[in-house]
Amino acid sequence: MAGVAVLALLATLALQCGQGQEVLVGREVVESSARRFVEEAEKELMNQCTRTMQAAWNYQTDLTTHHRTLLVNEQDTFKRMQEESRQEAGRWRSVDYLFTDSDLKDRLDKMSVIGLPELPSPSMTSYRRVLSDMTHIYTSASVCSRYRPSRCSLTPHSGLNELMSTSRDPEELSQLWESWRDRTKTIRHSYRAFVVLANRAVQGFNFRHKGDMNYVEYGAGDLMEQLQEAWEQLQPLYLQLHAYVRRKLREEYGSQLVTERGPLPAHLLGNIWGQEWPLAYLLPRPDLPPLDVTPEMVRQGMTPRAIFEIADDFFVSLGLERAPPSFWRTSLLQEPEDRSVVCSASTWDFCDGKDFRVKQCTKVTQDDFVSAHHEMAHLQYFRQYRHLPYLYRKGANPGFHEAIGLAVGLSVATPRHFRRMGLIRAGEEPGYLSQINTLMHLALRQLPFMPFARVMDLWREGVFNGTTHEKDWNCAWWDLRVSVQGIKPPDVRTEKDFDPGAKYQIAADSSYTRYFVAFVLQFQIYKSLCMAAGEYDPKDKRKSLHECDFYLSPAAGNILRSVMKLGASKPWEEVVEVLTEGRETGLNATAMREYYKPLEEWLTRDNLRHGEYVGWRPDGEYCLYKKPLRYSRCSVG
Ligand SMILES: *[C@@H]1O[C@H](CO)[C@@H](O)[C@H](O)[C@H]1NC(C)=O
Ligand SMILES: *[C@@H]1O[C@H](CO)[C@@H](O)[C@H](O)[C@H]1NC(C)=O
Ligand SMILES: [Zn+2]
Repeated sequence: MAGVAVLALLATLALQCGQGQEVLVGREVVESSARRFVEEAEKELMNQCTRTMQAAWNYQTDLTTHHRTLLVNEQDTFKRMQEESRQEAGRWRSVDYLFTDSDLKDRLDKMSVIGLPELPSPSMTSYRRVLSDMTHIYTSASVCSRYRPSRCSLTPHSGLNELMSTSRDPEELSQLWESWRDRTKTIRHSYRAFVVLANRAVQGFNFRHKGDMNYVEYGAGDLMEQLQEAWEQLQPLYLQLHAYVRRKLREEYGSQLVTERGPLPAHLLGNIWGQEWPLAYLLPRPDLPPLDVTPEMVRQGMTPRAIFEIADDFFVSLGLERAPPSFWRTSLLQEPEDRSVVCSASTWDFCDGKDFRVKQCTKVTQDDFVSAHHEMAHLQYFRQYRHLPYLYRKGANPGFHEAIGLAVGLSVATPRHFRRMGLIRAGEEPGYLSQINTLMHLALRQLPFMPFARVMDLWREGVFNGTTHEKDWNCAWWDLRVSVQGIKPPDVRTEKDFDPGAKYQIAADSSYTRYFVAFVLQFQIYKSLCMAAGEYDPKDKRKSLHECDFYLSPAAGNILRSVMKLGASKPWEEVVEVLTEGRETGLNATAMREYYKPLEEWLTRDNLRHGEYVGWRPDGEYCLYKKPLRYSRCSVG
């Protein structure tokens, strides 16, 4: 072994010196040059990251073309720099078996894939063109309602989903559903070129296909199996929800349209993709108003700034750090009147270990109250790992940051927390049915999403790895939609359609896995913090997970701190072990099931009482696979 190592070493050094002469250098010297490379590259990347974030902030908080140009320049420089570091790191990795420092190896590993999932890199022009063709088709698509000519230029985020969730006219709904797919189906032609180019691009980095690269940031674990297992854990709950929703839809639309044992018609679900079912009439008690502390917030004269101070206090109550004075000076906490800004809430790490900000056009509402805490959770995470080397200053995996924000949101949105904050009075807590209503409201937004995200992942995986042939792309999509989600199209689809392309993340090829991961993880985090706070005990029947608030618990804070300060310096599965004090070793949907347990019990009873069939069976043909062409020649004479 040693002999081989020395040979390789000599070869490398000889190459580097550009001469054949033997130079005898110890492995320590090579290792320390590698370390110097990593440290210097990290410093350069960090500086450019700061410049890029500053340009992005300037643009997003003042949308001018000048700011945009500056941003694009910084982004291009950053991408180029990442590409160079990636290549150089790749060269060092070819001798990393010489190194004894495992941290150095890990950082070289991370650097050798840095920025890769955000391809296109500047050197792949044709890839970039195809990708931008697809997103262009998607973002310029819009539809009209044939039945309401006043409703036109609808897009999912501008009117279309709203109409899908408010109209009860099945004709209108199926027309909207189909039009949106007609407008986006030409993406199919570019997608063909895209798959070829994407696979070719990543093979240069030793991935078998683009599908494998999509998971690179999750490390070497068995992510695919974990995703599948988590989904299987959730299935029993999903099946109960599915059966209940089918009965409600059947009552609304009749059993002609919604058969007793069939999949759900996709156009009736209140969302153009059927990924959430936000329909008020699906609540057990649509007449019961949801808990809303907005009027009380307004009555108390809360301001956006005050909301963020309260959110900051939340983390201080856990024994975590207060936001620094610079945060309050530099953040943008309400919409300015003199310029246009990107209003969606976000938290910013300027990569210098000092500058952290929030941008949120805060309104004095319950939603924004919860979202302020969510953003401040991101801020804590950034600050807790600010001392780590640049390459480790990230969430433990691509879903972790969001999961922590969501877990904090779960705690903050409980009646218990609102009472502690003086926003509802004792005795005003919602009763049992009202709690079921609230759980259902959340479940209709979260549970259908889980199998949908599975469909997205499975379909792409099959396409990238070549098991799903191009001629079957659309029908393979529907096979998954039917078998995993229990959803069917309003009409028979064909291979002239391209229904996956009706979803932005397919058209723009961005990852969807992280949302699935974040949804499952948020409950793992929430449960652990609740157990640490003594607010939840799976064996104590009097305590329900969904009622827990871990506010004021330094024990919960300690766990949160030990998780956050690891950043991405350890495989994320180990971070989950730290989080759960060894109980869990990866993605695990047990906590999510426990959270929804009261609802699952309610649904099971309700389905039994109505004699509902739980599950689904095919009740027709959903997609016509292309038959082999039969040539019937006209025989002339
Ligand atoms: C390709 O992807 C599909 C869908 O995830 C999977 O079932 C199949 O096993 C994969 N095949 C290969 C060769 O990786
Ligand atoms: C999932 O979590 C539960 C509860 O913490 C635990 O009992 C179970 O062993 C975990 N499953 C796996 C596969 O880790
Ligand atoms: Zn977030």
